[in-house]
Amino acid sequence: MLSKSIEAALNQQIRIEAESSQAYLAMAIWAEVKGLEGISNFMYSQSDEEREHMLKLVKFINERGGHAHVSELKAPSVTFSSYKAMFEKLLEHEIFVSESINELVHISLQEKDYATHNFLQWYVSEQIEEEAMARTILDKVKMIGDDKGGLYLFDRDIQQLTVSSAADNPSA
Ligand SMILES: [Fe+2]
Ligand SMILES: [Fe+2]
Repeated sequence: MLSKSIEAALNQQIRIEAESSQAYLAMAIWAEVKGLEGISNFMYSQSDEEREHMLKLVKFINERGGHAHVSELKAPSVTFSSYKAMFEKLLEHEIFVSESINELVHISLQEKDYATHNFLQWYVSEQIEEEAMARTILDKVKMIGDDKGGLYLFDRDIQQLTVSSAADNPSA
């Protein structure tokens, strides 16, 4: 059984994952409108992944006798000054999510909730992967700079990039 404070903290994480999904959907749409098809496809799939992260939390809370909440969401940024600015925002957001997962892990230990602590390890590994990917992408974007040909190739190649986390459960 979940304690009320753990339940509230997990519900807060549901909101963060849902906001991530919305933020990345907005990025996908922006890139699509700008004609950056590869970047757009990549962000659409990132948005789907964040929704999966959210659903995993929903199931966990409900299975442990809690009640998952669907909260009001903060509106995401919908325009960006450049695709580089967009990817900077992506990395910044993933770092923020990692911090909130760390805080959750901390709370679970404080409350001696080892089931939740164990459950959260998947998110810890996932955040390492997602942050690393966002950094790799941003490094490439910085390398490309204003080179149009480079952007063309990047937009094509980014579609091959997905988070292949070792912690990923293929049946999930
Ligand atoms: Fe996530
Ligand atoms: Fe993420």
